[in-house]
Amino acid sequence: MALSDAEEALEEVHSRVRVCTLCPLSRSRTRAVPGEGAIDAKVMFVGEGPGFDEDQQGRPFVGAAGRLLTDQLKRIGLDRQKVFITNIVKCRPPGNRDPEPGEIDACHDYLLAQIAIIEPKVICTLGRIAAHGLIDRGLSISREHGRPRTVSGIVYLPIYHPAAALHQARIIDSLENDFKQLRLLLDRELGPAPRSSRATPRQAQGRPPQVQDHPERGRGATGA
Ligand code: URA
Ligand code: SF4
Repeated sequence: MALSDAEEALEEVHSRVRVCTLCPLSRSRTRAVPGEGAIDAKVMFVGEGPGFDEDQQGRPFVGAAGRLLTDQLKRIGLDRQKVFITNIVKCRPPGNRDPEPGEIDACHDYLLAQIAIIEPKVICTLGRIAAHGLIDRGLSISREHGRPRTVSGIVYLPIYHPAAALHQARIIDSLENDFKQLRLLLDRELGPAPRSSRATPRQAQGRPPQVQDHPERGRGATGA
């Protein structure tokens, strides 16, 4: 897709999100938070859902967790403006409760549309809810954080949520290691993602085995 077409398509999706009433979260939100970042981002971050600050501002990851995310990005040489940041649900769950499965399902097509338009090479899920919503419902974040898997030409990397590191000191080391894994991944040659098949890992479950990746078995270096 030409960049200007992609910009237009993304803006169209975001306009729909801003007025969406597909799930009950529409009734309690202040503002919907579609997501933001570069249209040609190589890496997309998917969080859980907007919190208080995000709901007020209509922008993702602008509170304390967002500052930690921005810091971690800087540590591995990524500029916040050059990545794309969004959430599994685009409206704040009241009191920051976990989004419910019905809300996640209602919102899923917006995320799939964002992925199809931006065509990231790597999708990094932040925390358990995003990993379950996009990668695998049965994934154990404590066991599988920092371990990438490739499905339909996109590398999915589940990592801890920055908010968890704010509350539990031992998580910060794991989070930093996860970001180092992300840097290694981006340094690898990922190859162009096939455009024909854009199934997410959850959709691809039940299909023949997919390539399983591990950064220690790199295929050679490239810039990202
Ligand atoms: N936590 C999230 O999961 N998403 C945000 O946008 C902010 C905090
Ligand atoms: Fe629509 Fe998603 Fe907001 Fe629910 S969370 S109202 S599905 S944009």
